This record gives sequence, C-alpha cells and structure tokens, in this order.
Amino acid sequence: MKIAILPGDGIGTEIVAEAVRVLNVLDLKFEMETALVGGAAFDAHGHPLPESTLKLAMASDAVLFGAVGDWKYDTLDRPLRPEQAILGLRKNMGLFANFRPAICYEQLVGASSLKPELISGLDILIIRELTGDIYFGQPRGRRVATDGHFPGAEEAFDTMRYSKPEIERIAHVAFQAARKRKAAGKEGRVTSVDKANVLETFQFWKDVVSEVGKEYPDIALDHMYVDNAAMQLVKEPKRFDVVVTGNMFGDILSDEASMLTGSIGMLPSASLNSKNQGLYEPSHGSAPDIAGKGVANPLATILSAAMMLRFSLNQAAAADRIETAVKAVLAQGLRTPDIYSEGTTKVGTSQMGDAVVKALR
Ligand code: NAD
Ligand code: IPM
Ligand code: MN
Repeated sequence: MKIAILPGDGIGTEIVAEAVRVLNVLDLKFEMETALVGGAAFDAHGHPLPESTLKLAMASDAVLFGAVGDWKYDTLDRPLRPEQAILGLRKNMGLFANFRPAICYEQLVGASSLKPELISGLDILIIRELTGDIYFGQPRGRRVATDGHFPGAEEAFDTMRYSKPEIERIAHVAFQAARKRKAAGKEGRVTSVDKANVLETFQFWKDVVSEVGKEYPDIALDHMYVDNAAMQLVKEPKRFDVVVTGNMFGDILSDEASMLTGSIGMLPSASLNSKNQGLYEPSHGSAPDIAGKGVANPLATILSAAMMLRFSLNQAAAADRIETAVKAVLAQGLRTPDIYSEGTTKVGTSQMGDAVVKALR
C-alpha cells in the first residue's frame, strides 16, 4: 500500500504530521513517500505541482493531502498559485467524486453555533462533483467587452458547463451512496441541488439527475435550488440524507455544513476517481491566520486518513478503529480551540494527535 503524503502549506504540515503518526500505530504495512506541493513547492521548485509530485501521486494507491495556499502567493500569475496544485491533482487523477460527510459527534453538539436539537444525531453526506463546472470550464479570461452594459470596458469571464456523462457518473455515485446508507438504516434519499430556475447548466443537471434516478426506484429523489438549500442546511439540516451538487455549489455548501459538526476542523473528505484511487484531505484550507501556532484541529485530517483506509486501501477495520479513537478522545473532553466549550479541556494540535494515538494503543 503506497501512500503519497503531501502536507502543503500553513497548517497543512501540522495536521498531516498528526495523521501520519496515527497511521503509523496501526500495525499495517504502508510505504509512505512525502513530497512538496502548493506554495512550499513553488518556493523550492518554482511550480506548485512539480512533475515529480504529480508522478508520485499518480503512482500511489492513495494521496493524503493537507492544504495549500497563503495570502503571499495571491498576486502570482494564476498557473503558479498554490491552489492550482490541488486543482491539477483533481484534474490529472480524474478525481470527480468528492465525499464530504457532515457528522455531528454527540460530544460536540454544544460546539456548534446551532441549537443542539437541530444537529444532535446529524449524519449527512455531501457529494460534490469535483472536475467540472465553472472551476474548469473554458473559455475564461479577461478581454474588452464588445457588448453587455459597458461595451469597450475591461471585463472578466468564466464558463459554467457540464456534459451529460459528467452529470450521469456523479449522479450514479450519489444514488449508490444513498443505497448503501439505506442498507445501514438511513433514509435513502438524494437531494440534488441546482439553480435550474436561472442557469441552463443546472436545468440540464436537474434533467440528467432525474433520468439517472429512474434506475434507482428504491431511492427517493428531490431537487432543491441552491439558495434554498443554503437556508435549509441551517434551518433543518437533518432533513437531508445525501446531497449531490456541482463543483462550486458543493464547495460553498460543504463549508456551511461543516459548522453543523462543530467546526470546519472536523470535516474530512475523500476525492475518488473511477479506479477507486483517492485523494484524502480535510475540507478546510491552510488557515494562514493560525498557521505555526500549534492550535489547528487535526481531526478532519485524521478522519480523512480513516476514509482513505476504507475507500482506497481496503482496511475498513482500521478505519473503524480510528473513528472510535476520535470519539473516545472527544469523550475525554479534549478540544482544540475551534471546538472548545466551557467545561472541556483545551489542547493543541500535537496533544490532540497524542490523545488519538494513545486511544488507538
Ligand atoms: P481556511 O479553511 O483555510 O480557513 C477558514 C477559517 O477556518 C480560518 O479562520 C481558519 O483558522 C479556520 N480553520 C480552518 N481549518 C481549521 C482547523 N483545522 N482547525 C481550526 N481552525 C481551522 O479558508 P481561507 O482562510 O478562506 O483560505 C486560506 C487559504 O487556504 C487560501 O489560500 C485558500 O485558497 C486555501 N484553501 C485551500 C484548500 C485546499 O488545499 N484544499 C481548501 C480551502 C482553502
Ligand atoms: C476546497 C478548496 C478548493 C476548492 C480551493 C483551494 C481550490 O476550497 O477544497 O474546498 O475550491 O475546491
Ligand atoms: Mn472549499
């Protein structure tokens, strides 16, 4: 089992270090190789995704990724910015299916900014399409407008687009995930989030998802506009089971959903391709505001490592062990500052990692 370890920038290095320690106490044989990515790779090699890093990722069974980005790179030409590294990995590896499970652990019910009764028992799965949409659509750029409200003015443009096969394959992923969850006692429902009332791309999305849905008569399907979905997520989050949506809406809604779990530092993710190769990363970024302070929550990354064991490495038992250990540590009352509440014990990044390692032993 070969794992590429790509810590990246900011808190990426701090949280990945804890996840690696956790992997190392599992008594499994991994071959781990670490490489630079993002701003760190730009500083060392002049490119955020060096050929050698991409090669390593492609040749591995799974990638464990931290985060990339820092304000100091925001004025670089776009192809050289750290964020291009994660986009390039997703595109080159074909990682079209992004799983972001928002689970509220009972111990953290009080850490959320929402009322306990709204989130207690919450377990929803956001499935975000990850290689299409306005993120990758061409053409894009800057030019002088020849029409619109201000002909002759400088303008910028991006292209939102989805092809039928792109929508079909992510819809199948969502329906199959809902089926699996139904077998495990969940409702078995897919909510497809779109903006079909305004956008051609998302009317098409809705039509194609409905068509695919006919192949899954055992799974309920409903459609919701993204603005309503953003509202419903904080009004009545437990009404959702599986949410499937496009790249940009999924980016935004998953950050919103993270607060239902207590903190963005709790939301793991898996990005899979059709060969079950996967990249595993917390849903959050490099958090430059707290980087280097040793206070970042490593649990989203540790839980992402558990997803990696389950989805790409066929080690479900080890994944269960990690998730049980995380719950045990939370039950002990240990909290990084982002999930701290009165009556619990505030710890730093490495103390949290220590505690998970100890619980595993
Ligand atoms: P962010 O997710 O890095 O941080 C948002 C807020 O959440 C900050 O206040 C941060 O301190 C907090 N936070 C995030 N992770 C945390 C953790 N584990 N523990 C405690 N608090 C945590 O988003 P941002 O500030 O908008 O972006 C910062 C940089 O990260 C940007 O360069 C952005 O492009 C990049 N980014 C990268 C990824 C990725 O690598 N996949 C994802 C998102 C953002
Ligand atoms: C995420 C991030 C990325 C995205 C950025 C860093 C490119 O926000 O993984 O959610 O927008 O997909
Ligand atoms: Mn994001």
